[in-house]
Amino acid sequence: MPTDEIDDEALEAARKELRGEINAPMEFTFACSFDELPKNCERGKVVVIDDREIALFNIEGTIYAISNICPHEMSPILAAGALDCGARTIACPLHNWLFDIPTGQLITDHLIGASGSIPVYDVKLAEGEVWVREKSA
Ligand code: FES
Repeated sequence: MPTDEIDDEALEAARKELRGEINAPMEFTFACSFDELPKNCERGKVVVIDDREIALFNIEGTIYAISNICPHEMSPILAAGALDCGARTIACPLHNWLFDIPTGQLITDHLIGASGSIPVYDVKLAEGEVWVREKSA
């Protein structure tokens, strides 16, 4: 059941996902009602689905879903980061690692030795509900 509450078990599962230790495919799963989504360009909403911690963002009416886990220190915090709606990026509030929201790619121009990406999810809106699933390759 999706929830805003983060428990240690879900967090550990999210960390395993980032390390590639969870490989089970994910079907579209209910995330929240449309009414629960952040308003345009507001801080993200966190849901936990299938042991994955996911941050939802509303950028000019397009809903994006990315992992909420910053890979720098495996911190569950990206939903609370600094959102740049124009650039569609999120900066981690702890040390400012910057991610492209549509792709999950880490933007490395100000960093040395950091690269990679975070998981991104497909989003489906249906009858006032938000559904997400692992992005197909
Ligand atoms: S924990 Fe996110 S940049 Fe350090």
